[in-house]
Amino acid sequence: MMHLTERTALEPTAVLNCFDIQQETRMASSIDATALDQLFRKARTHNKFLDKEVPDGLLKQVVELAQLGPTSANCQPARILFVKTPAAKERLKPFLSEGNRDKTIAAPVTAIFAHDLEFYENLPRTFPHNQTAKSWFTGSPAHAEATAFRNGTLQGAYFMLAARALGLDTGPMSGYNQDGVDKEFFPDGKIKSNFLINIGYGDPSALLGRLPRLAFDEVAKII
Ligand SMILES: Cc1cc2nc3c(=O)[nH]c(=O)nc-3n(C[C@H](O)[C@H](O)[C@H](O)COP(=O)(O)O)c2cc1C
Repeated sequence: MMHLTERTALEPTAVLNCFDIQQETRMASSIDATALDQLFRKARTHNKFLDKEVPDGLLKQVVELAQLGPTSANCQPARILFVKTPAAKERLKPFLSEGNRDKTIAAPVTAIFAHDLEFYENLPRTFPHNQTAKSWFTGSPAHAEATAFRNGTLQGAYFMLAARALGLDTGPMSGYNQDGVDKEFFPDGKIKSNFLINIGYGDPSALLGRLPRLAFDEVAKII
């Protein structure tokens, strides 16, 4: 069995092809077993990370890959604040739940995964073929917030899978004081945090067994 720390970024060609917007061909087959293992089957949520730095350039690659995931009207509401320095971690510390505190302070990077409640300001640029799209949200803050939350959450999932694809591990957490974090890091009130993600190279020796997943018949139906 492949050791978790031996994982590498998935084949560069697979990643580069994602960025080739001229490429019209569709993937005709499944990605290979190694890639499936790295993204899903052997990938785990990590609480402890190796003492290994995560380069800023790699975080940028993760974000750029995750940005390719779909959002409604291409609205892309996710905003990510990477908390990396000890000083920044100290600002985050008072808002972490007790069970999440030490592991988050120790993690190489913690992403505050948030969404922009005024994401619609970018729609004239990101959804250019419909210049009325912004008006769908300007008159309805509740609709704007639901859209930002839905799509920002999806982008959080894309982000975690992109991180895995590039050889990183993640530890998502909702156990924190959301209002406190928002006031500390996003004081203008336009950005709202959703969850936190510890990022690094997971320490496989700290993992417990995989928790059971519900079966297909319990969660899905084909009608
Ligand atoms: C949105 C979200 C919030 C989570 N919040 C916490 C948390 O506050 N603290 C924690 O220890 N784990 C948290 N988890 C981790 C989950 O318990 C874990 O991902 C799940 O049990 C699956 O583990 P596995 O990936 O190792 O199979 C969270 C996961 C997600 C996706």
